[in-house]
Amino acid sequence: MANEQIEAWLHEMRSFEPSATFAEKANVSASEYGTASQDPEAWWQQQSKRLTWTTAPTKGLEWNPPFATWFADGMLNASFNCVDRHVEAGKGSKVAIHWVGDGEGEERVITYSELQELVSKCANALTDLGVSSGDRVAVYMPMIPEAVIAMLAIVRLGAMHSVVFAGFSADALASRIQDSDCHFIVTADGQFRRGVPVPLKPAVDEAVNVCPNIEAVLVVERTGTDVAWNDDIDHWWHETVDLSSPIHNCEGFPAEHNMFLMYTSGTTGKPKGILHSTAGYLVGATTTYANVFDIKPESDICWTAADIGWITGHTYIVYGPLLNGVTQVMYEGLPDSGGRDRWWKIVERLKVSILYTAPTTIRTLMKWGTEHLQPYDLSSLRVLGSVGEPINPEAWMWYREFVGGNNCPIVDTWWQTETGSIMISPLPGVTSTKPGAAMRALPGINVDVVDEAGKSVPNGHGGLLVITKPWPSMTRGIWGDPERFEETYWSKFPGIYFAGDGAKRDEDGDIWLLGRVDDVMNVSGHRLSTTEIEHAIVGFPAVAEAAVVGASDETTGQAVVAFVTLKLSEDEHENDHAVIIEAIRQHVSKAISPIAKPRQIILTPELPKTRSGKIMRRLLKDVAEQRTLGDVTTLTDPTVVAMISGLMGQHSTED
Ligand code: WT7
Repeated sequence: MANEQIEAWLHEMRSFEPSATFAEKANVSASEYGTASQDPEAWWQQQSKRLTWTTAPTKGLEWNPPFATWFADGMLNASFNCVDRHVEAGKGSKVAIHWVGDGEGEERVITYSELQELVSKCANALTDLGVSSGDRVAVYMPMIPEAVIAMLAIVRLGAMHSVVFAGFSADALASRIQDSDCHFIVTADGQFRRGVPVPLKPAVDEAVNVCPNIEAVLVVERTGTDVAWNDDIDHWWHETVDLSSPIHNCEGFPAEHNMFLMYTSGTTGKPKGILHSTAGYLVGATTTYANVFDIKPESDICWTAADIGWITGHTYIVYGPLLNGVTQVMYEGLPDSGGRDRWWKIVERLKVSILYTAPTTIRTLMKWGTEHLQPYDLSSLRVLGSVGEPINPEAWMWYREFVGGNNCPIVDTWWQTETGSIMISPLPGVTSTKPGAAMRALPGINVDVVDEAGKSVPNGHGGLLVITKPWPSMTRGIWGDPERFEETYWSKFPGIYFAGDGAKRDEDGDIWLLGRVDDVMNVSGHRLSTTEIEHAIVGFPAVAEAAVVGASDETTGQAVVAFVTLKLSEDEHENDHAVIIEAIRQHVSKAISPIAKPRQIILTPELPKTRSGKIMRRLLKDVAEQRTLGDVTTLTDPTVVAMISGLMGQHSTED
């Protein structure tokens, strides 16, 4: 990457120290980095004591690259660790889940004792339906407590859950069921979205039609809407789980017992089933949750505003919080179900202290304006987290100032479905934070930024992010495809995990994530990061959100094409579009370099996003290059791309 670009990126020099009061009470002190780096394996063995084992492990790591085992001679039960042991420790009356429904006023409070009963009933019912150790069970559920209960019941039996996001289509569900040969599905009749019932069961029925191995479908009644019913395989939750025994004595399984699959997209079309095993994953989840969010189980109210259909929901709604025995908020709705102030109402009323969400949501909330937060007392908040994509400094500063009252450390957490838990993040009581930087690897994690030859780059330079030593929660493979596993992550630098992300190390040695390396452009021989340009564009006052792609160009190799949404108040002046576009181009030129100035800027009311909120740059690239559109089935709204294609011709400028 050219030096000018790195310099431009690093114009962001603000840095915030943890406050003395926060640091004083923090769970982790600075010395932990040193202790962990001297002997990571011993450090992780120490962390494994956070769990309750039926047989304690004597082994640490066994490493036959790219295959690792951790704590292999230990035995434990994942569900027991999340639920029963807290009850046994006398914390049964503590609230585990404070569930808030899509509709205002609809809530459910579940204590650890109640959760133990519910999970036990579900485990007994699943056993009656035929589920046993090693089976794969698909979970296609809304954000309701039964989703968590089902996941815990499945792993309690030693079976594996494969949660498929409830926004996915029947085809996507079917292909995931087939890939891992699931014989069971847990689902609901439907889910609520801003008060509107949206059916789920019909998609399951459609999938079952092409998945003849399905033996049983367990259905929660959520919306009460009519559903088609197949007496041979369909079972209502309230007619099975509710009537089952609330006692279930669970057994310990080996540490390396397969725990779950989470499908994620790769560079090719076919989604990969990322495999996680039990103990290593749980050790990663519980340790990182406690450390990164400085969790105080006695007093914190934790809210991970994500969906259980993604790895963030697995690790930081289900496993991390429950392993730590905290009280958490689980929210079913959208950020504006019941109004654009809904989140802040929840934070104020339930006194949320730890909030964890994605930059795309932060930008949406920012776009709606601060008038929605101002009426509320958000002073219960203590730590704010960000995950999923690089966070632009503007959104970071807004989060800090308006949500955190300039008083909460912001932890920008980098990790992946494959890593199982957070890898790079500030420690809120130790590490200073910079707007837009994930800062440094957590204790016990070893990362590097390297060049194409695998050589570590000096401070002030960019390169590829790698993880140089194995860690407990690392994926154990791609389901049914060991070759793809080796090829994707371990072949570029043998024995070293290649994450697929670009990163920079600044002059202080701190790490900035720059997006997937597949999003790096080469314009006239200059390498430019899409993220870097996006940050610059979003820094322009009228802009709400931006997506940048490198479109092929006869003269320059690639050219920068930007798709931009404006803040609501700005977008009313149709006539000013040409003026705004030119001003944005000048702004980028000034913020980074004239080379980064977009060839075209398309103003659009919306950007195409996947149901997990990621902007589909691949499709925008198709639009920019006027190619036939690729697969649009994972988008929230497939019509958005066609609309943008239409706009391409109208509002664009070219030099
Ligand atoms: C990819 C992994 C981790 C849970 C949600 C996403 C990007 C993730 C950050 C961050 C910059 C980030 C990376 C990574 N990413 N967190 N804090 N800063 N980029 O999980 O769907 O497996 O996606 O998300 O590009 O490779 P995922």
